[in-house]
Order: sequence, then C-alpha cells, then structure tokens
Amino acid sequence: MTKKTPYQPELERAEAMAAPSSMTTVVSTSDWREKLPLLGGPRIQLREVRVEDAASLLSMLATDEVARFITPPPTTIEGFERFIEWALSERRRGEYACFAVVPEGMDTAVGIFQVRSIEPGFGTAEWGFAIGSAFWGTGLFVEGARMILNFAFDVVGVHRLEARAAVANGRGNGALRKIGAVQEGLLRRSFTRNGVYHDQVLWSILAEDWQFMRFQQRPRVH
Ligand SMILES: CC(C)(COP(=O)(O)OP(=O)(O)OC[C@H]1O[C@@H](n2cnc3c(N)ncnc32)[C@H](O)[C@@H]1OP(=O)(O)O)[C@@H](O)C(=O)NCCC(=O)NCCS
Repeated sequence: MTKKTPYQPELERAEAMAAPSSMTTVVSTSDWREKLPLLGGPRIQLREVRVEDAASLLSMLATDEVARFITPPPTTIEGFERFIEWALSERRRGEYACFAVVPEGMDTAVGIFQVRSIEPGFGTAEWGFAIGSAFWGTGLFVEGARMILNFAFDVVGVHRLEARAAVANGRGNGALRKIGAVQEGLLRRSFTRNGVYHDQVLWSILAEDWQFMRFQQRPRVH
C-alpha cells in the first residue's frame, strides 16, 4: 500500500525548488563513512572538506557578515585545520559529514554544508550551511542543498532532517523556506551570540517530504 503524503502548502511552494534527481549525480557510491561521495551539480561540486581548504574557508566564512548568526567559526588557519581534522574523524565514526562547496571553474572551497546525527543510527539529523557572502543570491545554495538532501535521505538514510536558524537571520530562514523546509516552532532564547540570547526557528524536512517534492518535479513523458 502506498502512503499518501498529507497536503502541506509549504511543500507545494517548494516544488519549484526540488530538482529532478537526473540533474544531480552522486559520482561515488562507496560507504560514506570511509570517504564522502563526490556530489556533482551543473554549477558546483560538493566534496569532502580537506585540510588544504583551511585558508579559503577562513577567508570565506570568518567574516562578520557570514558569522553573525552562527556558532563562531575558527579565526585562524590552524583553527580551521583542527575543525577539518575533527570533521574527518567524526565522519569515520559515522556521526557527521562536512562537504566543501566548490563552484565550477574553481578549485577552492567557498562554503560548507554539514549534516550531523542527533539520534543514534542517524535517523534524525541536523544540517547547517555557510557560504561566502560573494556567492549569496547566486543559486549556489539551492543547488548544494538539493544534493545534500539527496545525500542525507538516500545515502545516509535520515528520516527527519532539522535545522535551526536565529529568528533575526533573514537569509538563513529564507533559504530554508525556499528549499521546502517546514517551520515547526520557536526555540526560545536557545542560541547565544556576542552575549545576546536569540530565539531560533526550528525547521524540518522529512524523507517523505523530499520524496514528494522530487516526484512532483520528475521529468514527464507526454
Ligand atoms: C544561509 C546561506 C547559505 C543562504 O545562501 P544565499 O545564497 O544567501 O541564499 P539565497 O539567496 O538562495 O536564499 C535566501 C532567500 O532569503 C531571502 N531573504 C534575504 N533576506 C531576507 C530577510 N531579511 N528576510 C526574509 N527573507 C530574506 C532571499 O530573498 C532569498 O529568497 P529568494 O531567492 O526567494 O529571493 C547564506 O546566506 C549564508 O551563508 N549565510 C551565513 C551563514 C548562515 O546564516 N547560515 C545559516 C544558518 S541556519
């Protein structure tokens, strides 16, 4: 028996954002705990972060604009190197995946997408993302997000993917709404930054939501 997805207006709005799976490719299908697959889209590649990404990630992410509403990124190359080493060891433990965003024609990372388990077995996970401000509003976020959602639901087996964004983070919340996340509630004073408590919006995408959005966008034969 097929399970019907209940109607949710957010999903309909987000249909335009969900890509036909033919538009993105998982180049490697080996176990992601051994090495993250290379995810290829029309304009960007997502690949596992490398220690050599430390300098470009520092220049892209350690700016006031990018870091305003997120957990403060490292402020030195060495700090980013330690973060990347940690990311690789957490991936080996099967708890976390961190992809570098590499635009077509470049070989340096301009941002990251990360997914971490928040339930034993990775059934429930949380994702996060940050991209250098020079690349905001260019479509890189949506292209990368589609590939990460395919990875999380199809490869890792996540059934519920959460995100938290400070209420004051207009772009972060706008990006999540646009990709089809459903706003669930408000986490009061749940995030502190520069000595100020912020409320956060709790967003989620379920595996069946993403399945539905992709189904709506599948190529049709007339
Ligand atoms: C979050 C991030 C990756 C999104 O990438 P982006 O390229 O800026 O995202 P997009 O431009 O594709 O989408 C943002 C949407 O929010 C909208 N938006 C921008 N400012 C907004 C505001 N103040 N209020 C509401 N919506 C807003 C944009 O108009 C856009 O929607 P549209 O394309 O339908 O017009 C990027 O902004 C970033 O790295 N921010 C800093 C780190 C961060 O905050 N991460 C998120 C933590 S939850």
